Amino acid sequence: MTTPVLELRNLTVDIPTRHGTLRPVDDVSWSIDAGEILGVVGESGAGKSMTGNAVIGLLDPPAHISGGEVLLEGERIDNVSPAQMRRIRGKRIGMVFQDPLTSLNPLLTIGDQLSETILRHLDVTKSEADARAVRGLDEVGIPSAKNRMGAYPHEFSGGMRQRVVIALALCAEPTLLIADEPTTALDVSVQAQITALLKRLCRERGMAAMLVTHDMGVIAETADRVAVMYAGRLAEIGPVSQIVGQPRHPYTDGLMASTPAASAGKARLRQIPGAMPRLGKLPTGCAFHPRCPKVQDKCRVDPGPKVGIADDRAACWFPIEKAEDVA
Ligand SMILES: Nc1ncnc2c1ncn2[C@@H]1O[C@H](COP(=O)(O)OP(=O)(O)O)[C@@H](O)[C@H]1O
Ligand SMILES: [Mg+2]
Repeated sequence: MTTPVLELRNLTVDIPTRHGTLRPVDDVSWSIDAGEILGVVGESGAGKSMTGNAVIGLLDPPAHISGGEVLLEGERIDNVSPAQMRRIRGKRIGMVFQDPLTSLNPLLTIGDQLSETILRHLDVTKSEADARAVRGLDEVGIPSAKNRMGAYPHEFSGGMRQRVVIALALCAEPTLLIADEPTTALDVSVQAQITALLKRLCRERGMAAMLVTHDMGVIAETADRVAVMYAGRLAEIGPVSQIVGQPRHPYTDGLMASTPAASAGKARLRQIPGAMPRLGKLPTGCAFHPRCPKVQDKCRVDPGPKVGIADDRAACWFPIEKAEDVA
């Protein structure tokens, strides 16, 4: 058995507040192998970003990891010093966020930003770093990369800027990429290009990726496996074909049915009634039960069964059986 690139074991994040402790990430376990893209989906507020930020040690206090472990290539990284974590970020974990401007320094040319990052993390000369920076820009599809090295972030379009951010995230050759809504801020026409780019780069480099998005279309095109989150918990995890085509958790089913891209060719779009509960007001039992078309008494009392690391199954007492029609 090979060691996964990223493994979460019962990861739990707490936010202490005056009104009690909120738990945006509750006992989440999964792993991502080299070359694999795990899509993480769920409505806004599901805990997707909190999970990603916990992995890279960038939770905003007072939010903190209160339980479980994060392992990068088999080593725990949830308990390392801030200095060690800074070295891991950038070198072993690349990051791409929704807004490319947050990742770029407006006062530095993109060439300087890339070569500085390369010099910080790799043992190369300045001229080798510059050469690698040009190659990186070229690889992500920046036209005439060499001539653009001296340009500043504001001189690029949104889509080109996100390409620069991807080049920056990958220039130190990380084994793991965490991309949080990388295409959400971009024009629809550019989204597909960026998605395809991320997929190609993961394949070519054998990199593991955690791709956070609320866009099921992006997931269907990109992910190998998909983790579905609801109210901080893992609702279901499995191969993309199963999640999109044969969902077992009624929440996953509702999410798919409400997405044009995922439900193409199927019945009309339908919305999940109601909204995701606020963290301070989580329902008893399964957090999804007030919105669930299949709710039964047990669901109001008992949280769903746990989804194990290796199990492709749903945290639901009454999962949808194959070929069953719940519409
Ligand atoms: N500083 C904070 N204080 C209290 N709640 C927070 C804070 N930051 C985020 N949350 C809550 O944590 C939950 C998870 O947020 P997030 O991970 O950003 O969701 P997602 O990325 O899936 O949209 C949400 O309910 C959000 O309201
Ligand atoms: Mg988010």
